[in-house]
Amino acid sequence: MSHHPVEDSNRSGNRPYASILNERLGRRGFLQGSVGLAAATTLGSMALVGCSDDDDGFGLATPSALGFSAVAKNLDDRVTLPAGYSATVLYAFGDPITAAAAAFANNGTQTDHEQRAGDQHDGMYFFGLADDGSIDPNRSDRGLLVMNHEQVLDTYIHAAGPTEDGSGNRPKAEVDREMNAHGVSVIEVVNNGGTWSYVQSSSFNRRVTAFTTMNITGPARGNPLLTTAFSAAGTSTRGTLNNCANGYTPWGTYLTCEENWFSYFFRADDAASRSPADNAQLARYGITPNSAGFSYRKWDTVAGDVYSRFDISVKGASASADYRNEANTFGYVVEIDPTDANSTPQKRSALGRFAHEGAWVGPVRAGEPIVYYMGCDSRFEYIYKFVSTANWDPADANGGLAAGSKYLDSGKLYVARFNADGTGDWIELSVGVNGLNAGNSLFPFSNQGDICVATRLAADSVGATPMDRPEWGAVNPVNGEVYMTLTNNTRRNADGTDSANPRGTNPNGHIIRWREFAGNAAATRFDWDIFLLGAAADADPATVNASGLSDDNDFSSPDGVWFDRRGVLWVQTDDGVFPGAGRSNNQMLAALPGSVGDGVATIVAGQDTILGKAATGDSIRRFLVGPKGCEITGITETPDGRTLFVNVQHPGENGSLASLESAWPALSRDATAVGNGNRPRSATIVITRDDGGLIA
Ligand code: FEO
Ligand code: CA
Ligand code: CA
Ligand code: CA
Repeated sequence: MSHHPVEDSNRSGNRPYASILNERLGRRGFLQGSVGLAAATTLGSMALVGCSDDDDGFGLATPSALGFSAVAKNLDDRVTLPAGYSATVLYAFGDPITAAAAAFANNGTQTDHEQRAGDQHDGMYFFGLADDGSIDPNRSDRGLLVMNHEQVLDTYIHAAGPTEDGSGNRPKAEVDREMNAHGVSVIEVVNNGGTWSYVQSSSFNRRVTAFTTMNITGPARGNPLLTTAFSAAGTSTRGTLNNCANGYTPWGTYLTCEENWFSYFFRADDAASRSPADNAQLARYGITPNSAGFSYRKWDTVAGDVYSRFDISVKGASASADYRNEANTFGYVVEIDPTDANSTPQKRSALGRFAHEGAWVGPVRAGEPIVYYMGCDSRFEYIYKFVSTANWDPADANGGLAAGSKYLDSGKLYVARFNADGTGDWIELSVGVNGLNAGNSLFPFSNQGDICVATRLAADSVGATPMDRPEWGAVNPVNGEVYMTLTNNTRRNADGTDSANPRGTNPNGHIIRWREFAGNAAATRFDWDIFLLGAAADADPATVNASGLSDDNDFSSPDGVWFDRRGVLWVQTDDGVFPGAGRSNNQMLAALPGSVGDGVATIVAGQDTILGKAATGDSIRRFLVGPKGCEITGITETPDGRTLFVNVQHPGENGSLASLESAWPALSRDATAVGNGNRPRSATIVITRDDGGLIA
């Protein structure tokens, strides 16, 4: 099966703005314009939270060199690490998280998956945990590990794959297993004498699933577009879906982000029963009449409205009599308090509704707004930024969901436009601004709630730059610069390139980065360049491998990207090209990243662009290769920098029960052992250095 088909519904006709500028400036003009980068504002000495200065209590200075030898590409069915490192399996699909749940059988027969690890581990964050059960950002031997379970690999989770009866109805037990295997895990983890484990009976352990009741907060709360038979007031919903990457807050909560949620719904041909605006909004999110998304699992064929809601066809006399609006209650950033297993997750609509990959907080400074960077991961979609109305008050650290309401329910949402001259603009998405009003031709935006539901149409309207599938973002703790992966876009063609998305066919993806004007995360201007273009080492440097990758660091389809506290950048891949070419399983690299403007304005495959400094074996190096058929995604560390948690998602994805592609890790706890004889499982691994030192 193809695990991650990509929805492609941007019919805005937005031309990549930068390409229009390219035409106006001409190539000469472009190259001259890029000189502006050299004069870009420097940040000076910024005081950043989590900064890599040695005043953080752990002596975590930015390293001058990477301290490991590059791992060779390989197709082994195991985790490969540099010499001197070890990895164990901490938490794999099906592992029990209550005292009552039995050990995992890994044969698709158990029915208590609400008490077990979900499937397809993705974004993740380690919260240090104090003895009194509060969050302690400096605690490294005890914590709450919170992670997403993006979706299910149904080849392996049932006894013999998914089934349905002669009428096309799914068995309830299978649907319950699938819905419970989605969502989020909160687990307590401890380090006892150098050995990490999760605490099976911890009262902190929690599964948030596709069943969990959630509030909808912010501008869209109570909007008629959110009215359902479950919540006539449009203030709550059940479940979170396709939780991809993540974020954390300075007030001790976790953010889980709803990515390909649209793909779980069925819609009949009910266009005549809906308003033009309603039809336009649904279509722009990939839900057209008479369609089912690529993750549609016929959950609606089980009796009961917690299941039937996945058919969003107009059926009743009004929106409060059916689930026509159910899909409008997904697509948000969802905030979870990891310290309270009974707390209600909050869907924070102010951060917009789209295929949310993740939400990455900017530099946190007292008296300044809280800023989140976000991407919408589909082809030709946009990069967004949220700036809170409230300014940060350090007294709100450990403020939990109440602080979340303060900072995440009110603020300004922006979308990015990348200009050809290396500058960029954050365009405000506020009602009454930039033509976003009731007379807008794409959608009648009557209030901010409408913008927070039909966010893609608002972004279309203001001329945002369509990107090559924004995945993870990361903020450099040393200088505040922001990195975002653009994983690939095989449908961009040579006519549609622009300087920020320069390759006409882009199967390998790239990593863009930007520096906010004057180092102010709330600024509406920025300077950008392309940190690296993904490529095979032996690809043509003029058209593909323009960043100069070698066998020690070549990669394709960057997805996860993350800074550790020292300012080392980590890149994880989700690639269908390298494995197909027999080159390597998916991987993770470590980099010393430099800064925006350290390279040159150049031409790649005929397109003007601005590249960062070329890669060398010293600046970026392969650290890990995963088992067969997996994606490497999700990464977090203990505050002391000596333990790295990494997720291995869907090993063996291309296999079947009759012909396993991978058997990693099966029931083994040694992540570096070759898989042996059982169904593969997504898993969190723990990486430590054998001498107890800092990672990489
Ligand atoms: Fe779920 Fe955009 O990766
Ligand atoms: Ca994935
Ligand atoms: Ca991803
Ligand atoms: Ca991906």
